[in-house]
Amino acid sequence: MSATPIRQLALQGAAVILVLSLAWPYYGWQAQAMPWLQTSLTIGAVALAIATLSRQPWWWRLIHGGFMPLVWATQQLAIDPGWFLLGFILLLLVYRGALSGQVPLYLSNPQTVDALDRLIETQEAGSFLDLGAGLGSTLVPLADRWPERRFTGVENAPLTWLGGRLLSLGRPNLDWRWGDLWQTSLTGHDIVYAFLSPAPMARLWEKAQREMPPGSLFVSNSFRVPDIEPSFVIDVPCQPPRPLYCYRT
Ligand SMILES: C[S@@+](CC[C@H](N)C(=O)[O-])C[C@H]1O[C@@H](n2cnc3c(N)ncnc32)[C@H](O)[C@@H]1O
Repeated sequence: MSATPIRQLALQGAAVILVLSLAWPYYGWQAQAMPWLQTSLTIGAVALAIATLSRQPWWWRLIHGGFMPLVWATQQLAIDPGWFLLGFILLLLVYRGALSGQVPLYLSNPQTVDALDRLIETQEAGSFLDLGAGLGSTLVPLADRWPERRFTGVENAPLTWLGGRLLSLGRPNLDWRWGDLWQTSLTGHDIVYAFLSPAPMARLWEKAQREMPPGSLFVSNSFRVPDIEPSFVIDVPCQPPRPLYCYRT
């Protein structure tokens, strides 16, 4: 798990420990049952205060303030715990990347696919690699438009990979792989495409420079490589804006 989720977990944990370490002995001493609604509201308030003092972004403050009160409210619904386990497992199977590398699943839009289609044409790219290929909704239409060119997708979230496997069936020019993008060689691809998050960009650019052949193109949807000027930027006509930052290796 990367630094941000661990920090947020520690922050919420600190609020829980602080409130419980005072409330438990207090109510124990008074021989009273713990008032869980008030306790969860207090934990929420303390977590919100710590998040504000440590200057977390506003959405983290919201999550910290609301988390424990929502846990209490959900508890009142008396739902069988098995459903939570099932929900957790399903989320893990789809959003594994969010937990391990701060890269969740969201898909490139059709306008971006069209822009990549034109890029493949102008660059005369014979081989295109999508790092973190999601459900294949970028690669499948491109592979259909360019049957004589090679397309490769790498995905490491199990359920997402399976969805992409099914959607990409019957396309001999599309190699759909199960794997970690960090263990995937970028050698031999004319265009390497990534739609990930700000978190891995610096490390990924180092990998691209080491492994991609000179003159090939590393394309990042929406997220710049920090401190590196792109060779050119494609403004995709869509809302919200999703520029393609193109870096020549
Ligand atoms: C934002 S989605 C982009 C999906 C697709 N490329 C598209 O443009 O529609 C990012 C994908 O990367 C996957 N991913 C995250 N970390 C990965 C890793 N280390 N190795 C392989 N895939 C990863 C996620 O599971 C997710 O499906």
